[in-house]
Amino acid sequence: MKQPLIIANWKSHKTQSAVEAWLDAFLKVELPSQPEVVIAPTFVHLPAVAERLTNSSIRLGAQDASPFPMGSYTGEINAEQLADLGVEYVLVGHSERRRYFHEVTADIAQTAEQVILNGMKPVVCLDEPDIEQQAAAMDDSLFEKCVFAYEPISAIGTGDHEPVDEVQRVKAKIKQHFGDVPVIYGGSVDLQNIAEYLLVSDGALVGTASLKPASFAQIVAASYAA
Ligand code: PGA
Repeated sequence: MKQPLIIANWKSHKTQSAVEAWLDAFLKVELPSQPEVVIAPTFVHLPAVAERLTNSSIRLGAQDASPFPMGSYTGEINAEQLADLGVEYVLVGHSERRRYFHEVTADIAQTAEQVILNGMKPVVCLDEPDIEQQAAAMDDSLFEKCVFAYEPISAIGTGDHEPVDEVQRVKAKIKQHFGDVPVIYGGSVDLQNIAEYLLVSDGALVGTASLKPASFAQIVAASYAA
């Protein structure tokens, strides 16, 4: 990946008016056309964000998708519906999905496959202990169609970010199992550490520091400079 991929993961935050206010502030900032910036709001906010991103180089992301195709699966939002809204990237297997919603490697593999079948890019999130099992659960012909995110659980939302040399070591391990795929880092990324993470990764998945438009804009600007 040539330009860093910087993804804002808003998780289950924000009301409609907060989303509009964030976009009002963020879209006013003059940002370089690189890196590749993705905003991943909740499902319910996707249409509003999609509309505001028309004519912008910022991409739309979703935080998950159903492992099933269109059909009788009450409560699910499928990959075809996401693609239809203009979504280009889908987070798959985030540790919060694994932990609170009991998603297992087989579900995650099936979701990644649905995302790919519908022409979008899965961002497969992994902590180090997930790597081998996740690789075994996925069809290897799909690996090259994914982005991988190394997300150590201990660093997510804690401010306790991972040492850069650890990111480099685990990135090598991910590549050993999945091939020469892009690997981004997520876990307490902020303006102070983004530049060093980009020295050893292909981008960042930003949670807490993406919730305020000014701090996310600063991270994007610093990624361009990196
Ligand atoms: P954080 O979240 O930036 O708040 O640590 C990252 C993530 O969960 O992807």
